[in-house]
Amino acid sequence: MRVFAVDPTNPDPETIADAAARLRVGELVAFPTETVYGLGANALDAAAVERIYAAKGRPSYNPVIVHVPHTDAARRVVTSWPQSAAKLAAAFWPGPLTLVLPKSSDIPDAVSAGLPLIGVRVPAHPIALALLRAARVPVAAPSANKSNQLSPTMAEHVVRGLADVDGVILDGGPCAVGIESTVIDLSGDVPMLLRPGGVSIAALESVLGVRLQRAASIGLADAARRSPGALDRHYAPRARVRMVAAGDAVALATTIDALRSDGVRIGLLAYSDFDLPFGEDVVVRMLPTRAESYASALFAALHELDDAGVSAIVVETVPDIPIWDAVRDRLKRAAG
Ligand code: TXA
Ligand code: MG
Repeated sequence: MRVFAVDPTNPDPETIADAAARLRVGELVAFPTETVYGLGANALDAAAVERIYAAKGRPSYNPVIVHVPHTDAARRVVTSWPQSAAKLAAAFWPGPLTLVLPKSSDIPDAVSAGLPLIGVRVPAHPIALALLRAARVPVAAPSANKSNQLSPTMAEHVVRGLADVDGVILDGGPCAVGIESTVIDLSGDVPMLLRPGGVSIAALESVLGVRLQRAASIGLADAARRSPGALDRHYAPRARVRMVAAGDAVALATTIDALRSDGVRIGLLAYSDFDLPFGEDVVVRMLPTRAESYASALFAALHELDDAGVSAIVVETVPDIPIWDAVRDRLKRAAG
């Protein structure tokens, strides 16, 4: 992929126009959003969308989110716009929230993986918004990584992960939120959480005035039907991941010792101050103790540990409280 640097505070109109033209003729364009980098294609062009699946090695049953520059454009890709959608769009767009609603027939089945529903969102990133406005077509974009690997929060992650792919990358620096959008299905009677993410469940429930249903509460088979990609092992580094209890120095030392062997290095992702003599074979990445800052730094830290060639990553469990929901979800999936 070819990389073009773009200043997020002042995206160069020519670079944006060129990338938009590429999208319109069916090429792939990776671009930054506030959550993670997306791998974009014209959502009205089934062949272009197929190129996303091929580039990622994404299973054909996993639908792709459509990105649009404003709420009016979102309403054009769906066939119903309930009160709940109006409220959430007004409160959280542009932002890290994806709404799942009945799909308009203009959108090819490749985007929704054959489902009658489509996920749509307005991202809060100046480069993404400039690109979407210039493209004048809805843009299908999953995270710009190979299927089941870590999401990219920097252009370098995209370059390394999708080196063999034809297309361009707009490099706008690191993504601020660092974790993917929250996905909510509004097609049923009760709004259902399909994936925790950048907008907290508490914030959504307070705007909606109802409790969200959890996909987990409807059983595995139904949840898989509602959001086919949501159950896969995901967001996973190459190294295997072992979780240890928060702040438990003894469990941490035991786990590291058990993983130790000659010539291998072990990664550690922690936020507590353990003050242990870890040894030179342990590559330590300390993360912030605030959930939002932790989320923002998480994927880049996992990418770094993978790049350091560690054979395993020991991860300190995060607090079991709602503000950590999205991070806890990603760590659970990384651990497989
Ligand atoms: O923050 C994000 O959402 C990023 C940026 C690029 O926007 N995108 C992203 O896309 O994370 P992806 O494809 O990696 O994850 C999309 C998730 C999957 O779990 C998928 O199953 C679900 O959203 N999804 C998408 N369309 C859906 C639909 N029509 N019905 C149910 N679930 C859907
Ligand atoms: Mg993804």
